[in-house]
Amino acid sequence: MTTITDRSALQRVIAVINGKGGVFKTTLVANIGGLLASNGQRVLVVDLDPQGNLAEDFGYRDDDRNDEGARLANALFSGSHAEPVREVRPGLDVFVGGDKLAGAAAGIGRNGSTSTDVQDALARILAPIAGDYDVILIDCPPGEESLQMAAAGAARWVLVPIKSDAASRRGLEAVAGRMELVRGQVAGVAGTNPDIDLLGVVLVDTTTSATTVQREARLRVDGAGDSATNMMFTATIRHSEATAQAARERGVLVHELEKVAAEQPKWFEVMKGEAAATSFAPRSSTSVADDFQAVTEELIGRLIDREAAAAQQAVTA
Ligand SMILES: Nc1ncnc2c1ncn2[C@@H]1O[C@H](COP(=O)(O)OP(=O)(O)O)[C@@H](O)[C@H]1O
Ligand SMILES: [Mg+2]
Repeated sequence: MTTITDRSALQRVIAVINGKGGVFKTTLVANIGGLLASNGQRVLVVDLDPQGNLAEDFGYRDDDRNDEGARLANALFSGSHAEPVREVRPGLDVFVGGDKLAGAAAGIGRNGSTSTDVQDALARILAPIAGDYDVILIDCPPGEESLQMAAAGAARWVLVPIKSDAASRRGLEAVAGRMELVRGQVAGVAGTNPDIDLLGVVLVDTTTSATTVQREARLRVDGAGDSATNMMFTATIRHSEATAQAARERGVLVHELEKVAAEQPKWFEVMKGEAAATSFAPRSSTSVADDFQAVTEELIGRLIDREAAAAQQAVTA
């Protein structure tokens, strides 16, 4: 198959990667995507994870939109054209993931997970349709080497969520290595994506009391990045199990849950018989929704700054 030479359409492709599971990759992709779409952006979300967890966040787990990744797997494997599921939210389309991707991963990885075919597998699907979107977000699996390579091969930008523990920081190092591979900076590996760059690192699962831990994590990450400073987002996502659970149970995003929480009857209305009791949507959802809003704003700010810097460089060069 031919290599993707025209990457101009892929400038707004952001892969959310960390080889470690449970660092809110999927939650971030769903909520950032949902917020951008609710603000009028055209968004495509790609679920590259055989676990297909985005189905829970968006609420299509049990309906016929959920093909468990069959269409995406087929396109990855055969290089054929694929259509995402339209309007999962107004302005937001999704390439649905799931079980079927595991087979595709094995298929595209048969020549080794770093081959140019693997690196181009997703880029080839996205290039013809990327022009329809303002932003494309890729949710990456924790394992599945070849799917992660396909994501890195398609992305212009990488966003890495980490918890403040050592394991998720090691995940960050693994991501940096993967970026070097697709850039072609590793001897013996032909890289197809020289422009891939780190957009930033988001600290997740924070508690307000852990400021020292946060400061340390910040220092370590900024010290490890290739452009010395400000790799770490100022905005963080706080820990709230109640919010996370309530959102996935209902198949709604956190800012949508916020509306549910705001509109749910007050306990005294239920007591007076003026309203029926509904299942509980936690009040904490408002603060978590604020966190996602802040991360999304910072992400767009970074994107615009980096694009302006790149344009400036192009003029000077
Ligand atoms: N703000 C939060 N606080 C606590 N747990 C959360 C929060 N957001 C998401 N979670 C939960 O953490 C788990 C891992 O999140 P997920 O986005 O699936 O991570 P990943 O995609 O990196 O494996 C899920 O059970 C999710 O519901
Ligand atoms: Mg996930």
